[in-house]
Amino acid sequence: MTVLHDFIRALPKAELHIHIEGCIEPELMFHLAERNGIKLKYPSADSLRNAYRFENLQDFLDIYYAGSSVLLYEQDFYDITWAYLLKAQENNILHTEVMFDPQAHTSRGVPFSAVIGGIYRALVDGYEKLGISFRLILSFLRHLSAEDGFKTLEEAVPFQGWITAVGLDSSEKNFPPDLFADLFEKAIEMGFLTVAHAGEDGPPEYIWAALDLLKASRIDHGNSAIQDSDLVDVLGIYEIPLTSCPISNLKLKLIQSMADHPLKEMLDRGIKVNVNSDDPAYFGGYLNDNFIAVADALNLSKDEIVHLVKNSFEASFITDGEKRAFLKKVEEASCY
Ligand code: HPA
Ligand code: ZN
Repeated sequence: MTVLHDFIRALPKAELHIHIEGCIEPELMFHLAERNGIKLKYPSADSLRNAYRFENLQDFLDIYYAGSSVLLYEQDFYDITWAYLLKAQENNILHTEVMFDPQAHTSRGVPFSAVIGGIYRALVDGYEKLGISFRLILSFLRHLSAEDGFKTLEEAVPFQGWITAVGLDSSEKNFPPDLFADLFEKAIEMGFLTVAHAGEDGPPEYIWAALDLLKASRIDHGNSAIQDSDLVDVLGIYEIPLTSCPISNLKLKLIQSMADHPLKEMLDRGIKVNVNSDDPAYFGGYLNDNFIAVADALNLSKDEIVHLVKNSFEASFITDGEKRAFLKKVEEASCY
């Protein structure tokens, strides 16, 4: 098995579903809390890590937003992004599409410019110093109002050139995509691409709505798609990618064991699914860990792993020429 694990580690990869606020390892959280004079509820990084036990999505989100409160200044956003990029390098990630949640910070009085400024500066450094290319995705929090989303979209205008797409995350149940149709229509009018978390713990209807009303180019998670065979057909025919996050799904008890993950069935049924880490500092696994976990539990072959990796590059928001160059690197690495 370790041969397959080494094969996974050596493959050049892309990551398309990663929340930058989900990359604050407990040690970094303590460091930032101390630097900013913030007292955390836990006495040590280890005790904080021990508290990362979740029964469901909301349990996690409560801790995730509490953790985000250590972020006050531009440098803090730089530091968490840089920490992720070093992990990305370790995981042989050549291209990443990073999501950020501005409302989690502007609601605490942190300027939008400090949030995006720090993240973007680190991503540019990551490109120049580590050779990792990137896109940036502004995610709206769906537990807040569309009106709040419109305000955030307005704040993004001076930085529009830095942002490729808008997304939708946070608590899914009872916050259907329908609530954000006008907001996404406006974002599309402004030239943004769109993605949306849908079918993470919500029904297939939310995936349909993300496609029909939000015009999502990709669906984040999309676990429940497998329950609806018409939807499976549409995702396959229109080549709409699902950005799956297996360890996240397991840690949030959306599946009982990794062997129950729908990833292989999705692949077999023709969906362009790919593998991602979501919030690795909270779920205890970066991208290679996610690949290894599903490869072991679902008995994935080398070919299936290469297929998943190619799906990530193909589903990314880079140009066709860039995609071809990355896919060639995957081909070269998979021949060994
Ligand atoms: N789901 C919804 N919202 C999120 C997540 C997630 O897994 N991670 C960060 N925000
Ligand atoms: Zn997510």
